Amino acid sequence: MADALLALDQGTTSTRAILFDVALHPGAAHQIELPQHFPQPGWVEHDPEQIFAHSLGCLRGALARGGTDPGRVAGIGITNQRETTIVWDRATGRAVHNAIVWQDRRSAAICDRLRAAGLEELLTQRTGLLADPYFSATKLVWMLETIPGLRARAERGELAFGTVDSFLLHRLTGGRVHATDATNAARTMLLDIRRGEWDQEILRALDIPRALLPEVRDCAAEFGTTDPALLGAAIPIRGMAGDQQAATLGQACFRPGMAKSTYGTGCFMLLNTGATPVRSNHRLLTTIAWQIGGARTYALEGAIFVAGAAVQWLRDGLGIIGSAAEAGELAARADPHSGVVMVPAFTGLGAPHWDAAARGAILGLTRGAGAPEIARAALESVAWQTRDLLDAMRADWPETGETVLRVDGGMTASDWTMRFLADALQCPVDVPAVAETTALGAAYLAGVQAGLAPPPGDDATHWRRRVRFEPDMPAEEADRRHAAWRTAVGQVLSDRG
Ligand code: G3P
Repeated sequence: MADALLALDQGTTSTRAILFDVALHPGAAHQIELPQHFPQPGWVEHDPEQIFAHSLGCLRGALARGGTDPGRVAGIGITNQRETTIVWDRATGRAVHNAIVWQDRRSAAICDRLRAAGLEELLTQRTGLLADPYFSATKLVWMLETIPGLRARAERGELAFGTVDSFLLHRLTGGRVHATDATNAARTMLLDIRRGEWDQEILRALDIPRALLPEVRDCAAEFGTTDPALLGAAIPIRGMAGDQQAATLGQACFRPGMAKSTYGTGCFMLLNTGATPVRSNHRLLTTIAWQIGGARTYALEGAIFVAGAAVQWLRDGLGIIGSAAEAGELAARADPHSGVVMVPAFTGLGAPHWDAAARGAILGLTRGAGAPEIARAALESVAWQTRDLLDAMRADWPETGETVLRVDGGMTASDWTMRFLADALQCPVDVPAVAETTALGAAYLAGVQAGLAPPPGDDATHWRRRVRFEPDMPAEEADRRHAAWRTAVGQVLSDRG
Protein backbone atom coordinates (compact mmCIF):
# COMPACT_ATOMS: atom_id res chain seq x y z
CA MET A 1 0.00 0.00 0.00
CA ALA A 2 1.33 3.45 -0.93
CA ASP A 3 1.54 5.50 2.26
CA ALA A 4 4.47 7.88 1.78
CA LEU A 5 5.43 10.91 -0.31
CA LEU A 6 8.98 11.83 -1.20
CA ALA A 7 10.18 15.39 -1.82
CA LEU A 8 13.38 16.18 -3.69
CA ASP A 9 14.61 19.76 -3.13
CA GLN A 10 17.56 20.55 -5.39
CA GLY A 11 18.71 23.97 -4.15
CA THR A 12 21.58 26.27 -5.05
CA THR A 13 23.92 25.20 -2.27
CA SER A 14 22.55 21.81 -1.31
CA THR A 15 20.28 18.98 -2.35
CA ARG A 16 17.94 17.23 0.05
CA ALA A 17 15.23 14.59 0.01
CA ILE A 18 12.60 14.32 2.72
CA LEU A 19 10.02 11.60 3.27
CA PHE A 20 6.53 12.68 4.33
CA ASP A 21 3.63 10.58 5.53
CA VAL A 22 0.33 10.99 3.73
CA ALA A 23 -0.78 13.60 6.29
CA LEU A 24 2.33 15.56 5.19
CA HIS A 25 4.32 15.20 8.40
CA PRO A 26 8.06 15.17 7.63
CA GLY A 27 10.16 12.10 8.40
CA ALA A 28 13.56 10.81 7.32
CA ALA A 29 15.79 13.15 5.32
CA HIS A 30 19.12 13.12 3.54
CA GLN A 31 21.14 16.16 2.46
CA ILE A 32 24.33 16.72 0.41
CA GLU A 33 26.14 20.06 -0.12
CA LEU A 34 26.66 21.11 -3.74
CA PRO A 35 30.07 22.50 -4.79
CA GLN A 36 29.99 25.88 -6.55
CA HIS A 37 32.23 26.72 -9.50
CA PHE A 38 33.32 30.29 -10.30
CA PRO A 39 35.27 30.08 -13.60
CA GLN A 40 35.41 33.89 -13.98
CA PRO A 41 34.23 36.87 -11.93
CA GLY A 42 30.44 37.03 -12.14
CA TRP A 43 30.14 33.46 -13.45
CA VAL A 44 28.58 30.69 -11.35
CA GLU A 45 28.30 27.07 -12.50
CA HIS A 46 27.21 23.67 -11.17
CA ASP A 47 28.18 20.25 -12.47
CA PRO A 48 24.97 18.64 -13.82
CA GLU A 49 26.34 15.12 -13.19
CA GLN A 50 26.82 16.08 -9.55
CA ILE A 51 23.31 17.55 -9.42
CA PHE A 52 21.93 14.21 -10.62
CA ALA A 53 24.23 12.02 -8.49
CA HIS A 54 23.42 14.03 -5.35
CA SER A 55 19.70 13.95 -6.10
CA LEU A 56 19.78 10.20 -6.50
CA GLY A 57 21.93 9.85 -3.39
CA CYS A 58 19.48 11.94 -1.36
CA LEU A 59 16.43 10.02 -2.60
CA ARG A 60 18.12 6.70 -1.77
CA GLY A 61 19.38 8.05 1.55
CA ALA A 62 15.96 9.28 2.70
CA LEU A 63 14.33 5.97 1.75
CA ALA A 64 17.04 3.99 3.56
CA ARG A 65 16.91 6.15 6.70
CA GLY A 66 13.13 5.95 6.78
CA GLY A 67 13.26 2.16 6.27
CA THR A 68 10.70 2.81 3.51
CA ASP A 69 10.17 0.35 0.72
CA PRO A 70 10.21 2.38 -2.54
CA GLY A 71 7.01 0.59 -3.57
CA ARG A 72 5.23 2.42 -0.73
CA VAL A 73 5.91 5.89 -2.17
CA ALA A 74 2.72 7.30 -3.73
CA GLY A 75 4.61 10.04 -5.50
CA ILE A 76 7.79 12.06 -5.76
CA GLY A 77 7.61 15.86 -5.82
CA ILE A 78 10.54 17.69 -7.39
CA THR A 79 11.39 21.27 -6.44
CA ASN A 80 14.52 23.15 -7.42
CA GLN A 81 16.67 26.25 -7.71
CA ARG A 82 14.98 28.12 -10.50
CA GLU A 83 16.33 29.62 -13.76
CA THR A 84 19.57 27.58 -13.68
CA THR A 85 20.07 26.45 -17.26
CA ILE A 86 21.14 23.07 -18.62
CA VAL A 87 21.42 21.76 -22.19
CA TRP A 88 21.89 18.04 -22.63
CA ASP A 89 22.11 15.33 -25.25
CA ARG A 90 18.73 13.61 -25.56
CA ALA A 91 20.32 10.24 -26.39
CA THR A 92 22.86 10.04 -23.56
CA GLY A 93 21.31 12.40 -21.01
CA ARG A 94 24.70 14.05 -20.55
CA ALA A 95 24.94 17.83 -20.38
CA VAL A 96 26.94 19.63 -23.06
CA HIS A 97 28.18 22.28 -20.61
CA ASN A 98 28.07 22.96 -16.89
CA ALA A 99 24.77 24.30 -15.57
CA ILE A 100 24.75 28.11 -15.71
CA VAL A 101 23.41 29.11 -12.32
CA TRP A 102 20.72 31.77 -11.78
CA GLN A 103 23.27 34.06 -10.08
CA ASP A 104 25.54 34.04 -13.15
CA ARG A 105 25.85 37.43 -14.89
CA ARG A 106 27.70 36.38 -18.09
CA SER A 107 24.75 37.15 -20.36
CA ALA A 108 24.50 40.82 -19.27
CA ALA A 109 25.68 41.98 -22.71
CA ILE A 110 23.00 39.86 -24.38
CA CYS A 111 20.41 41.57 -22.17
CA ASP A 112 21.78 44.98 -23.20
CA ARG A 113 21.38 43.88 -26.81
CA LEU A 114 17.76 42.88 -26.25
CA ARG A 115 17.04 46.20 -24.58
CA ALA A 116 18.76 48.10 -27.40
CA ALA A 117 16.62 46.20 -29.90
CA GLY A 118 13.55 47.50 -28.04
CA LEU A 119 12.48 44.04 -26.89
CA GLU A 120 12.14 44.64 -23.16
CA GLU A 121 8.49 45.71 -23.29
CA LEU A 122 7.52 42.54 -25.22
CA LEU A 123 9.50 40.38 -22.79
CA THR A 124 7.94 41.97 -19.71
CA GLN A 125 4.46 42.00 -21.13
CA ARG A 126 4.54 38.30 -22.10
CA THR A 127 6.72 36.78 -19.38
CA GLY A 128 6.26 39.12 -16.39
CA LEU A 129 10.06 39.37 -16.04
CA LEU A 130 12.77 41.95 -16.79
CA ALA A 131 15.55 41.64 -19.38
CA ASP A 132 18.08 40.46 -16.81
CA PRO A 133 20.75 37.71 -16.88
CA TYR A 134 19.00 36.16 -13.83
CA PHE A 135 16.54 34.33 -16.11
CA SER A 136 17.29 31.29 -18.31
CA ALA A 137 16.70 32.70 -21.80
CA THR A 138 19.89 34.71 -22.21
CA LYS A 139 21.96 31.97 -20.57
CA LEU A 140 20.65 29.63 -23.28
CA VAL A 141 21.40 32.21 -25.98
CA TRP A 142 24.93 32.50 -24.60
CA MET A 143 25.39 28.72 -24.95
CA LEU A 144 23.99 28.70 -28.51
CA GLU A 145 26.27 31.55 -29.52
CA THR A 146 29.41 30.33 -27.76
CA ILE A 147 29.61 26.54 -27.84
CA PRO A 148 30.78 25.34 -31.29
CA GLY A 149 28.26 23.19 -33.16
CA LEU A 150 25.54 23.60 -30.53
CA ARG A 151 23.03 25.45 -32.68
CA ALA A 152 23.21 22.90 -35.51
CA ARG A 153 22.73 20.02 -33.06
CA ALA A 154 19.84 21.87 -31.43
CA GLU A 155 18.18 22.43 -34.79
CA ARG A 156 18.54 18.72 -35.63
CA GLY A 157 16.60 17.94 -32.42
CA GLU A 158 19.52 16.15 -30.75
CA LEU A 159 19.60 18.39 -27.69
CA ALA A 160 17.26 19.28 -24.86
CA PHE A 161 17.12 22.47 -22.78
CA GLY A 162 15.67 22.63 -19.32
CA THR A 163 15.89 24.04 -15.86
CA VAL A 164 17.05 21.68 -13.09
CA ASP A 165 13.58 20.10 -12.63
CA SER A 166 13.45 19.13 -16.28
CA PHE A 167 16.98 17.72 -16.33
CA LEU A 168 16.31 15.64 -13.20
CA LEU A 169 13.02 14.38 -14.62
CA HIS A 170 14.72 13.29 -17.83
CA ARG A 171 17.42 11.42 -15.94
CA LEU A 172 15.13 9.92 -13.29
CA THR A 173 12.76 8.55 -15.95
CA GLY A 174 15.66 6.94 -17.80
CA GLY A 175 15.52 9.54 -20.61
CA ARG A 176 11.85 8.94 -21.39
CA VAL A 177 10.34 12.32 -20.45
CA HIS A 178 11.32 15.87 -21.41
CA ALA A 179 8.90 18.11 -19.53
CA THR A 180 8.77 20.93 -17.02
CA ASP A 181 6.05 22.57 -14.97
CA ALA A 182 4.47 25.99 -15.49
CA THR A 183 6.28 27.66 -12.55
CA ASN A 184 9.75 26.69 -13.72
CA ALA A 185 8.83 27.51 -17.32
CA ALA A 186 7.70 30.95 -16.12
CA ARG A 187 11.29 31.72 -15.03
CA THR A 188 12.89 31.11 -18.41
CA MET A 189 11.69 34.41 -19.96
CA LEU A 190 10.33 32.31 -22.83
CA LEU A 191 6.84 31.54 -21.52
CA ASP A 192 3.70 33.53 -22.18
CA ILE A 193 2.45 33.43 -18.59
CA ARG A 194 -1.12 34.31 -19.56
CA ARG A 195 -1.45 31.34 -21.90
CA GLY A 196 0.97 28.97 -20.19
CA GLU A 197 2.70 28.29 -23.52
CA TRP A 198 6.12 28.97 -25.04
CA ASP A 199 6.01 32.32 -26.81
CA GLN A 200 6.78 31.94 -30.53
CA GLU A 201 7.56 35.61 -30.99
CA ILE A 202 10.17 35.62 -28.21
CA LEU A 203 11.69 32.37 -29.47
CA ARG A 204 12.04 33.93 -32.91
CA ALA A 205 13.47 37.20 -31.56
CA LEU A 206 16.07 35.32 -29.49
CA ASP A 207 16.70 32.76 -32.27
CA ILE A 208 16.07 29.78 -29.98
CA PRO A 209 15.18 26.52 -31.79
CA ARG A 210 11.75 25.28 -30.65
CA ALA A 211 13.07 21.69 -30.74
CA LEU A 212 15.09 22.35 -27.57
CA LEU A 213 12.13 23.06 -25.32
CA PRO A 214 10.36 20.74 -22.87
CA GLU A 215 6.62 20.20 -22.69
CA VAL A 216 4.95 22.41 -20.06
CA ARG A 217 2.72 20.59 -17.58
CA ASP A 218 0.69 21.38 -14.46
CA CYS A 219 2.51 21.36 -11.11
CA ALA A 220 0.46 18.36 -10.01
CA ALA A 221 0.60 15.93 -12.94
CA GLU A 222 1.77 12.50 -14.04
CA PHE A 223 5.37 13.31 -15.00
CA GLY A 224 6.40 9.67 -15.56
CA THR A 225 7.88 6.97 -13.35
CA THR A 226 11.43 6.52 -12.13
CA ASP A 227 13.65 4.01 -13.92
CA PRO A 228 13.38 0.94 -11.60
CA ALA A 229 17.16 0.49 -11.83
CA LEU A 230 17.65 3.77 -9.94
CA LEU A 231 15.48 3.45 -6.82
CA GLY A 232 14.39 -0.16 -6.88
CA ALA A 233 10.86 0.59 -8.10
CA ALA A 234 9.00 2.57 -10.73
CA ILE A 235 7.91 5.45 -8.47
CA PRO A 236 5.52 7.96 -10.04
CA ILE A 237 6.79 11.55 -10.21
CA ARG A 238 3.67 13.59 -9.51
CA GLY A 239 4.67 17.04 -8.37
CA MET A 240 6.95 19.77 -9.68
CA ALA A 241 7.49 23.46 -8.89
CA GLY A 242 10.29 25.99 -8.58
CA ASP A 243 11.49 26.24 -4.98
CA GLN A 244 9.95 29.63 -4.15
CA GLN A 245 6.62 28.56 -5.59
CA ALA A 246 6.81 25.25 -3.70
CA ALA A 247 7.45 27.22 -0.48
CA THR A 248 4.38 29.34 -1.26
CA LEU A 249 2.34 26.12 -1.44
CA GLY A 250 4.09 24.67 1.62
CA GLN A 251 3.10 27.88 3.45
CA ALA A 252 -0.46 27.35 2.16
CA CYS A 253 -0.71 30.92 0.79
CA PHE A 254 -3.80 29.75 -1.04
CA ARG A 255 -5.90 32.92 -0.97
CA PRO A 256 -5.19 36.17 -2.85
CA GLY A 257 -3.47 38.62 -0.51
CA MET A 258 -1.49 35.94 1.35
CA ALA A 259 2.29 36.26 1.22
CA LYS A 260 5.38 34.29 2.17
CA SER A 261 8.99 35.30 2.53
CA THR A 262 11.91 32.86 2.61
CA TYR A 263 15.07 34.03 4.37
CA GLY A 264 18.13 32.16 3.13
CA THR A 265 21.29 33.85 1.88
CA GLY A 266 18.93 36.27 0.17
CA CYS A 267 15.18 36.54 0.44
CA PHE A 268 12.33 35.79 -1.92
CA MET A 269 8.86 37.13 -1.19
CA LEU A 270 5.76 36.05 -3.10
CA LEU A 271 2.28 37.54 -2.84
CA ASN A 272 -0.67 35.53 -4.17
CA THR A 273 -2.65 37.81 -6.52
CA GLY A 274 -5.17 35.19 -7.64
CA ALA A 275 -6.23 34.23 -11.15
CA THR A 276 -5.09 37.42 -12.91
CA PRO A 277 -1.46 38.37 -13.43
CA VAL A 278 -0.69 41.81 -11.99
CA ARG A 279 1.74 44.00 -13.93
CA SER A 280 4.23 45.71 -11.61
CA ASN A 281 5.10 49.39 -11.83
CA HIS A 282 7.78 48.93 -9.18
CA ARG A 283 10.08 46.45 -10.87
CA LEU A 284 8.65 43.41 -9.12
CA LEU A 285 8.22 40.23 -11.13
CA THR A 286 4.92 38.74 -12.19
CA THR A 287 5.08 34.99 -12.04
CA ILE A 288 2.99 31.81 -11.95
CA ALA A 289 2.52 30.67 -8.35
CA TRP A 290 1.10 27.32 -9.42
CA GLN A 291 -0.87 25.68 -12.21
CA ILE A 292 -3.20 22.89 -11.17
CA GLY A 293 -6.01 21.38 -13.26
CA GLY A 294 -4.98 23.73 -16.08
CA ALA A 295 -5.83 26.81 -13.96
CA ARG A 296 -3.09 29.28 -13.08
CA THR A 297 -2.68 31.28 -9.88
CA TYR A 298 -0.30 34.24 -10.13
CA ALA A 299 2.04 36.00 -7.75
CA LEU A 300 4.03 39.19 -7.48
CA GLU A 301 7.59 38.36 -6.51
CA GLY A 302 10.39 40.41 -5.06
CA ALA A 303 13.93 39.22 -4.47
CA ILE A 304 16.55 40.78 -2.21
CA PHE A 305 20.13 39.60 -2.47
CA VAL A 306 21.34 39.94 1.11
CA ALA A 307 19.42 38.56 4.10
CA GLY A 308 21.27 35.77 5.92
CA ALA A 309 24.38 36.95 4.05
CA ALA A 310 24.40 40.04 6.28
CA VAL A 311 24.67 37.77 9.33
CA GLN A 312 27.41 35.76 7.63
CA TRP A 313 29.27 39.03 7.10
CA LEU A 314 28.97 39.91 10.81
CA ARG A 315 30.52 36.51 11.53
CA ASP A 316 33.08 36.06 8.74
CA GLY A 317 33.76 39.63 7.62
CA LEU A 318 33.72 41.52 10.91
CA GLY A 319 34.19 38.63 13.36
CA ILE A 320 31.83 40.27 15.91
CA ILE A 321 29.81 37.06 16.39
CA GLY A 322 30.98 33.46 16.57
CA SER A 323 27.85 31.91 15.07
CA ALA A 324 24.76 33.16 13.27
CA ALA A 325 22.67 32.38 16.35
CA GLU A 326 24.54 35.07 18.34
CA ALA A 327 23.43 37.94 16.06
CA GLY A 328 20.06 38.42 17.77
CA GLU A 329 21.60 38.42 21.27
CA LEU A 330 24.16 41.03 20.23
CA ALA A 331 21.51 43.18 18.51
CA ALA A 332 19.34 43.03 21.64
CA ARG A 333 22.13 44.81 23.57
CA ALA A 334 22.21 47.76 21.12
CA ASP A 335 20.94 51.25 21.90
CA PRO A 336 17.63 51.16 19.99
CA HIS A 337 17.93 54.90 19.27
CA SER A 338 21.51 54.87 17.98
CA GLY A 339 20.42 55.87 14.48
CA VAL A 340 22.91 53.49 12.87
CA VAL A 341 21.60 52.23 9.51
CA MET A 342 23.23 49.58 7.37
CA VAL A 343 22.44 49.07 3.68
CA PRO A 344 23.87 45.64 2.82
CA ALA A 345 24.23 46.25 -0.92
CA PHE A 346 27.29 43.97 -1.12
CA THR A 347 26.32 42.80 -4.59
CA GLY A 348 24.03 45.64 -5.59
CA LEU A 349 20.37 45.93 -4.68
CA GLY A 350 17.55 43.70 -5.93
CA ALA A 351 13.85 44.54 -6.03
CA PRO A 352 12.47 47.14 -6.16
CA HIS A 353 15.72 49.00 -7.06
CA TRP A 354 17.55 46.53 -9.36
CA ASP A 355 20.76 48.50 -9.07
CA ALA A 356 23.69 46.18 -9.71
CA ALA A 357 26.26 48.94 -9.20
CA ALA A 358 25.07 50.04 -5.73
CA ARG A 359 27.43 49.16 -2.87
CA GLY A 360 26.86 48.76 0.86
CA ALA A 361 27.18 51.42 3.54
CA ILE A 362 26.87 51.93 7.28
CA LEU A 363 25.54 55.38 8.11
CA GLY A 364 24.83 57.35 11.26
CA LEU A 365 27.90 56.19 13.21
CA THR A 366 28.67 58.04 16.43
CA ARG A 367 31.40 57.49 19.01
CA GLY A 368 28.89 55.48 21.03
CA ALA A 369 28.18 52.98 18.24
CA GLY A 370 29.79 49.56 18.55
CA ALA A 371 29.33 45.94 17.61
CA PRO A 372 25.79 45.68 19.05
CA GLU A 373 24.58 48.65 17.01
CA ILE A 374 26.10 47.26 13.82
CA ALA A 375 24.59 43.81 14.45
CA ARG A 376 21.23 45.43 15.06
CA ALA A 377 21.50 47.53 11.89
CA ALA A 378 22.35 44.38 9.89
CA LEU A 379 19.28 42.51 11.17
CA GLU A 380 17.08 45.58 10.78
CA SER A 381 18.21 45.88 7.14
CA VAL A 382 16.59 42.54 6.39
CA ALA A 383 13.29 43.81 7.79
CA TRP A 384 13.47 47.16 5.97
CA GLN A 385 14.21 45.48 2.66
CA THR A 386 11.15 43.28 3.22
CA ARG A 387 9.09 46.38 3.96
CA ASP A 388 10.24 47.92 0.67
CA LEU A 389 8.99 44.79 -1.10
CA LEU A 390 5.66 44.80 0.74
CA ASP A 391 5.16 48.53 0.07
CA ALA A 392 5.89 47.96 -3.63
CA MET A 393 3.43 45.05 -3.70
CA ARG A 394 0.73 47.15 -2.04
CA ALA A 395 1.33 49.97 -4.52
CA ASP A 396 1.14 47.55 -7.45
CA TRP A 397 -1.90 45.72 -6.14
CA PRO A 398 -3.98 47.74 -3.67
CA GLU A 399 -6.16 44.66 -3.02
CA THR A 400 -3.24 43.30 -0.97
CA GLY A 401 -4.93 44.90 2.05
CA GLU A 402 -3.96 43.81 5.54
CA THR A 403 -1.69 40.84 5.27
CA VAL A 404 0.02 38.32 7.50
CA LEU A 405 3.50 37.41 6.36
CA ARG A 406 4.37 33.72 6.57
CA VAL A 407 8.13 33.28 6.89
CA ASP A 408 10.59 30.43 6.58
CA GLY A 409 14.31 29.84 6.15
CA GLY A 410 17.28 30.00 8.50
CA MET A 411 16.76 33.54 9.81
CA THR A 412 13.36 32.69 11.23
CA ALA A 413 15.26 30.98 14.07
CA SER A 414 16.06 34.50 15.38
CA ASP A 415 13.13 35.70 17.49
CA TRP A 416 14.69 39.16 17.67
CA THR A 417 14.72 39.48 13.88
CA MET A 418 11.18 38.17 13.46
CA ARG A 419 9.86 40.52 16.17
CA PHE A 420 11.56 43.46 14.46
CA LEU A 421 10.19 42.28 11.10
CA ALA A 422 6.65 42.47 12.51
CA ASP A 423 7.41 46.01 13.79
CA ALA A 424 8.90 47.13 10.48
CA LEU A 425 6.05 45.73 8.40
CA GLN A 426 3.37 46.65 10.93
CA CYS A 427 1.77 43.28 10.29
CA PRO A 428 1.79 39.89 12.02
CA VAL A 429 4.59 37.48 11.09
CA ASP A 430 3.83 33.75 11.28
CA VAL A 431 6.47 31.03 11.59
CA PRO A 432 5.12 27.58 10.62
CA ALA A 433 5.51 24.32 12.53
CA VAL A 434 7.20 22.60 9.57
CA ALA A 435 10.36 24.57 8.77
CA GLU A 436 11.03 22.74 5.47
CA THR A 437 8.28 24.53 3.59
CA THR A 438 9.87 24.07 0.16
CA ALA A 439 10.03 20.28 0.45
CA LEU A 440 6.58 20.31 2.05
CA GLY A 441 5.20 22.14 -1.00
CA ALA A 442 6.72 19.56 -3.36
CA ALA A 443 5.35 16.65 -1.32
CA TYR A 444 1.98 18.42 -1.17
CA LEU A 445 1.84 18.65 -5.00
CA ALA A 446 2.62 14.94 -5.32
CA GLY A 447 -0.07 14.32 -2.68
CA VAL A 448 -2.62 16.37 -4.63
CA GLN A 449 -1.93 14.37 -7.78
CA ALA A 450 -2.12 11.09 -5.83
CA GLY A 451 -5.50 12.12 -4.39
CA LEU A 452 -4.05 12.21 -0.86
CA ALA A 453 -4.23 15.99 -0.30
CA PRO A 454 -6.90 18.54 -1.25
CA PRO A 455 -6.01 20.99 -4.03
CA PRO A 456 -5.35 24.60 -2.93
CA GLY A 457 -8.53 26.00 -1.39
CA ASP A 458 -9.64 27.30 1.94
CA ASP A 459 -8.68 24.07 3.58
CA ALA A 460 -4.97 24.14 4.37
CA THR A 461 -4.73 20.91 6.27
CA HIS A 462 -0.94 20.70 6.05
CA TRP A 463 -0.09 24.13 7.53
CA ARG A 464 0.19 24.83 11.25
CA ARG A 465 1.63 27.86 13.00
CA ARG A 466 4.49 27.48 15.44
CA VAL A 467 4.55 31.07 16.60
CA ARG A 468 3.15 34.50 15.65
CA PHE A 469 4.98 37.80 16.16
CA GLU A 470 2.70 40.83 16.46
CA PRO A 471 3.93 44.39 15.85
CA ASP A 472 4.72 46.23 19.05
CA MET A 473 6.24 49.43 17.68
CA PRO A 474 3.84 52.36 17.09
CA ALA A 475 3.16 52.91 13.37
CA GLU A 476 4.58 56.47 13.42
CA GLU A 477 7.87 55.23 14.84
CA ALA A 478 8.07 52.44 12.24
CA ASP A 479 7.40 54.97 9.49
CA ARG A 480 10.02 57.36 10.85
CA ARG A 481 12.65 54.62 11.03
CA HIS A 482 11.69 53.38 7.58
CA ALA A 483 12.13 56.90 6.20
CA ALA A 484 15.68 56.95 7.63
CA TRP A 485 16.34 53.63 5.90
CA ARG A 486 15.02 54.99 2.59
CA THR A 487 17.30 58.01 2.91
CA ALA A 488 20.26 55.69 3.47
CA VAL A 489 19.30 53.59 0.41
CA GLY A 490 19.10 56.79 -1.64
CA GLN A 491 22.71 57.47 -0.75
CA VAL A 492 24.03 54.14 -2.01
CA LEU A 493 22.12 53.96 -5.30
CA SER A 494 24.38 54.45 -8.30
CA ASP A 495 23.56 57.08 -10.91
CA ARG A 496 21.73 54.42 -12.91
CA GLY A 497 19.63 53.39 -9.90
O1 G3P B 1 15.45 32.09 -8.18
C1 G3P B 1 16.46 31.40 -7.51
C2 G3P B 1 15.91 30.58 -6.39
O2 G3P B 1 14.99 29.66 -6.85
C3 G3P B 1 17.05 29.94 -5.64
O3 G3P B 1 16.65 29.49 -4.42
O4 G3P B 1 16.92 28.47 -2.24
O5 G3P B 1 18.09 27.45 -4.19
O6 G3P B 1 18.87 29.61 -3.28
P1 G3P B 1 17.71 28.70 -3.47
